[in-house]
Amino acid sequence: MTLQFALSPEHPDTIASPCVVVGLYQGGKLTPAAALLDAASGGAISRVTASGDATGKAGTSTVLFGLAGIASPRVLLVGLGDAAKCDVATFQRAAGEAGRALKAMPIASAHTTLTEAEIPGHDLAWKLRALALATDAQAYRYRATFKPKSEAEPAQLATLSLAAADDATARTALTQARAIAEGVRFARELGNLPPNICNPAHVAAQAQRIAQQHAGVDVEVLEREDMAKLGMGALLGVAQGSANAPKLIVLQWRGGGDARPYALVGKGITFDSGGISLKPGAGREEMKFDMCGAAGVLGAFLAAVELKLPLNLVCVVPAVENMPGGNSYRPSDILTSMSGLTIEVLNTDAEGRLILCDALTYVQKFDPQVIIDAATLTGACVVALGKHASGLMTRDDELAAQLLAAGERTHDRAWRLPLWDDYQSQLETGFADLANIGGKYGGAITAGCFLSRFTNGRRWAHLDIAGTAWIDGRKGSATGRPVPLLVQYLLDRCG
Ligand code: BES
Ligand code: MN
Ligand code: ZN
Repeated sequence: MTLQFALSPEHPDTIASPCVVVGLYQGGKLTPAAALLDAASGGAISRVTASGDATGKAGTSTVLFGLAGIASPRVLLVGLGDAAKCDVATFQRAAGEAGRALKAMPIASAHTTLTEAEIPGHDLAWKLRALALATDAQAYRYRATFKPKSEAEPAQLATLSLAAADDATARTALTQARAIAEGVRFARELGNLPPNICNPAHVAAQAQRIAQQHAGVDVEVLEREDMAKLGMGALLGVAQGSANAPKLIVLQWRGGGDARPYALVGKGITFDSGGISLKPGAGREEMKFDMCGAAGVLGAFLAAVELKLPLNLVCVVPAVENMPGGNSYRPSDILTSMSGLTIEVLNTDAEGRLILCDALTYVQKFDPQVIIDAATLTGACVVALGKHASGLMTRDDELAAQLLAAGERTHDRAWRLPLWDDYQSQLETGFADLANIGGKYGGAITAGCFLSRFTNGRRWAHLDIAGTAWIDGRKGSATGRPVPLLVQYLLDRCG
């Protein structure tokens, strides 16, 4: 369940909330709400800044308890950095830190006034949405497969009130935040689930649940035999080594009359062992996240449906497990894809492109006006861009600009890599129309080039989210990216 969001124009000194969040800049400058609380409390906040206990550094926070003259028992002072340089990144950091601190408190609700921070080029609606989403992201807890240690868990943050007048613009901002938060949570939870639970059948069941719970959504799940009839030899080649049968999931939302649909395609490898080209031991467990492209497009679809966007949407997810076994596909196998192109498998660990190529061919039966795929496709993309930006590949400059802008707006950023024909020669082989790997150099790009061969010149973009879909480590978690980017892109198409 996402947080509840509410709007409140009440004064920060009199509002009855377990915690009031106010901003503080480096050098001691206070936001208006902080200044008001300072005056009401006889200078309690200035004393904390003068003592150096609160510095205003971005990403820091200080909690003050039981201030005289203030209705709320807690005041959370959040650093906003240099007042002259408060940009999107600083604001996101401050919002995240506030959320982290609130989550650690034994409280069920809080009130934030960080909407007052001035960020050039960003209005109140943007700030409301960013604050709501950052707080919800912090409030998320994975609890699907274990229980908290103590029976009596302290109260959990469930409601966030935001300082703004309750008008139509602010309400729209929170409606969007709620839908995006739901999509992000959906994607994170599916991503975080272990692969013995989140197998292809589980992903399909989730899609079916979305359809059951939302009027106007149609779902279809294609089984192995259906895919065989369609000639999806590439997808089925990857699937044949696993005891978990593959599923091809198709969701449709018709909110846009007879307009051509937008198509979302997501890589749904529920576990990527590498297959016969087995991955090295270290980090294998991270490959449960190899279905985060699928989770991302399903989460974006869910958000779009919750918002009842006035457009048509089709979402195609190939859900497959990549395993070694007696029936596995092998290096040097030749697969015939649904498009008719034959593919020489030179590495069974380059499986994502093999399931996606058949999904990309299949989705064209809906005659989409745009196709966007999201995939944890290559380690090379993480080497190139690190873990902050998703890789964007498309030949369409307008589509690139729209997707990059959507990423900037939601701070779910992407960076474009070229898809020049020069790279295509790396996929040549003497035994098939193309090989499934492109050699040592430019691995993210040659993977994109591979996919491009199955798009028939349509308007198409590929997001390589290998670096952005999850935070690694023992306590890592799926991030829900690129749900915000995709939903913003769709919102922008609705005018
Ligand atoms: N799912 C992986 C890509 C990946 C690796 C994502 C590590 C995030 C972290 C993908 O299926 C894969 O194995 N790609 C190979 C391609 C290679 C064999 C050409 C890779 O990146 O090493
Ligand atoms: Mn792989
Ligand atoms: Zn993979």
